[in-house]
Amino acid sequence: MHRLIGGVELYCEVHGEGEPVVFLHGFPLSGRMWDATAAALGGGFRCIVPDLRGHGRSGASEHAGMARYADDVVELLDALDERRPVALVGLSMGGYVALELARRHPERLRALALVDTRAGPDSDDAAAGRLETAARVLAEGSWVVADSMVDRLFAPDAPAALREQWRAIMAATPPTGAAAALLAMAERPDSFPTLRALRLPLLVVVGEEDAITPPDESRRMAEAAPHARLVVVPGAGHMTPAERPAEFAALLRDFLGAL
Ligand code: MLT
Repeated sequence: MHRLIGGVELYCEVHGEGEPVVFLHGFPLSGRMWDATAAALGGGFRCIVPDLRGHGRSGASEHAGMARYADDVVELLDALDERRPVALVGLSMGGYVALELARRHPERLRALALVDTRAGPDSDDAAAGRLETAARVLAEGSWVVADSMVDRLFAPDAPAALREQWRAIMAATPPTGAAAALLAMAERPDSFPTLRALRLPLLVVVGEEDAITPPDESRRMAEAAPHARLVVVPGAGHMTPAERPAEFAALLRDFLGAL
């Protein structure tokens, strides 16, 4: 289904009934990365899976920013008449958005799961690189990021079909959406203060072979938050839910079941 949120048509899938769980994908991916997780969780949860603006089947806007992505999620929950505090699961850029949402709308959350992500901001060099990449994406297309990211997204032994599936999804991202996301990531703040102040249960999951947000980043996040559990998934890369769907869903089910 689509909902008009903040001037764009946001695409969202809703599966099951029960306690609400919201899933936020990474860059430049789509909600499809959570398909196996939502299916494996079964019907006992209301799984809300949006495509962030400028990604997947959602409309794009020239400007976004972490605050806009976070507000989109809250406005989408309102549009779906979901007023209960949700468990929020964010992978990589989805984790950056989740932390922004925890700052802006803490009353909407009951738990947080941060997957293959980091809490620190970009270095100056990393931020400058993002701006260069954004300019190239606007000039040449999203294949620029698809080609440069696909090998680092997965563990070395991940199936070729999985890589090809996600290369195609990344390459189909609207260039305006990808460029806006690159700028938003470059500008994002340090989220360690947010983690230190977090009073929610926190699950931190990372693939042992994550080359984009390596396990040390997750260890630092889990150490910073007062109520965190860290799980390192053997053999997974940066796409743990897509690479190890059954294992990831079991971890999440245990976490959600204990809330
Ligand atoms: C992602 O997977 O969302 C991005 O690679 C994160 C990043 O570039 O910082």
